[in-house]
Amino acid sequence: MSAMASLLFHLLCCLTVFWLLPLPSHSADPDPLQDFCVANLSASISVNGFPCKPASEVTSDDFFFDGFTQEGNTTNAFASFLTPGNVLSFPGLNTLGISMNRVDFAPGGINPPHSHPRASEVGVVIEGKLLVGFVTTNNVYYSKVLTAGHMFAIPRGLVHFQLNVGDGKALAYTAFNSHLPGAAIVPLNLFTSSIPNEVLTKTFQVDADLINTIKSKFRP
Ligand code: GLV
Ligand code: MN
Repeated sequence: MSAMASLLFHLLCCLTVFWLLPLPSHSADPDPLQDFCVANLSASISVNGFPCKPASEVTSDDFFFDGFTQEGNTTNAFASFLTPGNVLSFPGLNTLGISMNRVDFAPGGINPPHSHPRASEVGVVIEGKLLVGFVTTNNVYYSKVLTAGHMFAIPRGLVHFQLNVGDGKALAYTAFNSHLPGAAIVPLNLFTSSIPNEVLTKTFQVDADLINTIKSKFRP
């Protein structure tokens, strides 16, 4: 190979590496291409995200959200309530790559094991005492009991939960690097979807009666 050809070959290799290097870090929502793009949730066209409402129709109200002012109603099977502040409830977040939740817990309440396919999560406990835990893809469990002012981090896609282990109510706020992180709630995914019972009995190695008993717990 001539010196020139060898130089060109090395240059090409370097350019390829520089082009590929950033790819693994593109793991959250894409960057916005304009100042804002308040979601038009009722648009008939379907894109990855939501189309923007015309800028001439955007008002201050599009950038403020009062959905976290009310305590969630925790009278339910999990004794917890999650109020989402994502692009669906707060369309001004569209394309910004961020969102938050308010999570209220009655004593003993649980935000059951779930995962967010599109975001990592951070959270801060405002009131009460929460056991916060997650499990890695190698089934290693990490957890800690947190009280007011303590923060936690949940890596993207990993199954996690919060359990109120205090005597009173608990409150936490969580935040995500996605305008719509999604939540796959493990018990609901498995026991309220139409996955055939045969899959569940074989997976958990129990009989259909037990699967039906568990399913009955999630029926309204
Ligand atoms: C807590 O895990 C949340 O998803 O808000
Ligand atoms: Mn979560």
